[in-house]
Amino acid sequence: MSKIISKELKSVSVPLIKEKKAQKDKIVMVTAYDYPSAKLCDDAGVDIVLVGDSLGMVVQGNEDTLSVTLSEILHHTKMVSKGVKRALVVSDMPFLSYHTGIKDAITNCGRCIKEAKAQAVKIEGGKKRSELVKRLVENEIPVMGHIGLTPQSIHKFGGFKVQGKDKASIDKLVEDAISLEEADVFSIVLECIPSEVAQIITNSVKVPTIGIGSGPHCDGQVLVFHDLLGLSDLPLPRFVKKYKNLREEILNGISSFASEVRKGVFPTEEHAYHLEQAKKKENIK
Ligand code: KIV
Repeated sequence: MSKIISKELKSVSVPLIKEKKAQKDKIVMVTAYDYPSAKLCDDAGVDIVLVGDSLGMVVQGNEDTLSVTLSEILHHTKMVSKGVKRALVVSDMPFLSYHTGIKDAITNCGRCIKEAKAQAVKIEGGKKRSELVKRLVENEIPVMGHIGLTPQSIHKFGGFKVQGKDKASIDKLVEDAISLEEADVFSIVLECIPSEVAQIITNSVKVPTIGIGSGPHCDGQVLVFHDLLGLSDLPLPRFVKKYKNLREEILNGISSFASEVRKGVFPTEEHAYHLEQAKKKENIK
């Protein structure tokens, strides 16, 4: 059961997320893409709401994340920021929004903070991004790293594949994580990395790791909103645990409405306005 968090609780900040690792306090991150989903995540007490570029898949119905644009991330982050009072809001920088030079990247990431009210951004890639991460952080833009199966690299990887399966790639992942830590990221997402490897990475850095498909040893976990709530009828990867089957609930609700309308059962007079009452009341409640 989700717990309603009172407004008095301290807001989640970037330093607070960093401190959680030393305190062995697991970090909970969930994606959200609009006002109601963000408000639900916040009211349930998650620490970080990520406006993921996974919106390209779960909201827009594409096969990958590559076509998501900066304007779309800004648009969705604005809605999410309005729904969140307590959690940290992170914008996921889409493909080609941070690849064309440091100045472009600072401008694009900065827009997520300045216009859309995110508190941080996430960018994909390890050591090759460390110079960029340094420059973003120097310019007051906190950065979450992301290594392993970085979905913006699927064409390079040849598909959505588990990463870190041989010594060379395991060493590279550890090197990537250390390099991101030195560049001052405040956390690192580890996506689809074998559990043992995610444990080695987690023990190699002082910044928290947040796993997805990377086993239980990470300092936190993230899942996609639509996946964890069972909103899709598509097959899900094995790392997803469906905590609810909302697709079925929603189908039942919509089918009941349709059936009652067709049978003339809804609306009754109870859901209608009547002349005398309508004259007395000004608003529609
Ligand atoms: O876009 C996304 O939702 C993500 C998470 C799965 C980490 O990058």
